[in-house]
Amino acid sequence: MTDDTTLAALFAAAAAARENAHAPYSRFHVGAAVLSESGVVYAGCNVEVASFPEGWCAETTAIGKLVSAGDKSIRAVVVVAEGARLTTPCGGCRQRLAEFAGPDTPVHVGSPAGIRRVFTIGELLPAGFALEDQP
Ligand code: THU
Repeated sequence: MTDDTTLAALFAAAAAARENAHAPYSRFHVGAAVLSESGVVYAGCNVEVASFPEGWCAETTAIGKLVSAGDKSIRAVVVVAEGARLTTPCGGCRQRLAEFAGPDTPVHVGSPAGIRRVFTIGELLPAGFALEDQP
């Protein structure tokens, strides 16, 4: 469980990072924040480039910041985007999040107005591939 104050801070960080999204091609602005086991919040936005496939997701930016800071464990995730449909992490980001999170780690998704739904990593990436599966 993430307490309300921590979740609010995580949400605020994701929403603030979203303001810096560089998405001139899709115009779809996303912010993400991850909470490390040590209680630090790392936030990021999506970054697009003119060669479209070379851009990357907000979740990936946040994970990069976590790992660059020497952290390796995610306790909670928030993703913020605007739209009628919920924005859940893409397939690649589910795998990246699973690398540093557990099956029960919560992934809260919502819009700048607030969190709308929570999933677990296990729900988003059932039967996912893991280090233990490698020979
Ligand atoms: N995007 C994210 O940053 N996170 C998601 O969870 C879904 C998609 C970005 C990638 C791209 O810059 C834009 O949204 C449109 O797909």
